[in-house]
Order: sequence, then C-alpha cells, then structure tokens
Amino acid sequence: MKIPESRVIEVKELGDERGLLAVIDGETSIPFEFKRVFYIYNTISGVRRGYHAHYKTRQALVCVSGSCKVFLDNIRRKEDVLLDSPRKILILEPNDWHEMYDFSPNCVLLVLASHLYDAEDYIRDYEKFKEVYGG
Ligand code: TYD
Repeated sequence: MKIPESRVIEVKELGDERGLLAVIDGETSIPFEFKRVFYIYNTISGVRRGYHAHYKTRQALVCVSGSCKVFLDNIRRKEDVLLDSPRKILILEPNDWHEMYDFSPNCVLLVLASHLYDAEDYIRDYEKFKEVYGG
C-alpha cells in the first residue's frame, strides 16, 4: 500500500566528514508544535503495539535507529508505512488508528506529540473509534 507523500516528511540531513545530523524543528519541519517526546525501544520480537487513536493529539513518528512498520486506519483508508530512515517522519492525525509492528531489534521509535500525556485523550476501543470518526 502506498502512503500519500504528504503524510511522510523528509527532514534535511546535515552531514560532514564527521557523520550525519538531522533536525526536526517544531515550527517549520512538522505541522504542529510538540509538547512531549517519548521513544519506544528494546521491543520484544513479534510485538505489535499502539491499537488506538486520539481525540486531539497529533504525532510525528521517526525511527531514529532501525526500522518498524505502522498500520494506519482512518476508516476511509487503511495503509502500512515502513519507517526505515532517520529522515522519514510520519505525521499521524488524531483520527488515525495506529498499530506499530515489525520492530527491528535495534529500533528506537521516537514520537513527538502535540499534547501532554492524557489517558482521556485515547480511544482504545475500535468500535468506539468507528463511532467517533466513522460518521
Ligand atoms: P501505551 O499507550 O500502552 O503504549 P503503546 O500505545 O505504544 O502500545 O503506553 C504504555 C504505558 O506508558 C501506559 O501505561 C501509558 C504510559 N505512558 C505515559 O505515562 N506517558 C506517555 O507519554 C505515554 C506515551 C505512555
């Protein structure tokens, strides 16, 4: 399945003889300002996680090391995205039900979020998700 280009942002890579450096700027690189950063790592082989959408949180996902896949479902379309480069940033809207899987052993999945953690902002039940965003 192909992801629309607009969902994946390629950040600029700054390199010199010492190696590479990539920058995510909250005002210009991604379409929202982030208040929270978390990262998922040491994921056990075969694990699939996520299984939720949000009411208001927008997110930007980047595999700063290794790779993983993200299944996305916004009811109108379902797609699978491979994140296999520290330059590739996947933008998730609140109405994107998402599941992360196929984590490589060295995967560090960095997530930038538009809001602070709030358990009330999660929709973890797929039927509820369809009720909220299906209409
Ligand atoms: P969880 O939402 O289950 O992770 P995933 O969606 O990747 O499967 O989060 C695991 C635990 O961490 C859960 O108890 C909630 C907690 N948590 C926070 O306290 N703050 C955060 O910013 C995040 C993302 C999770």
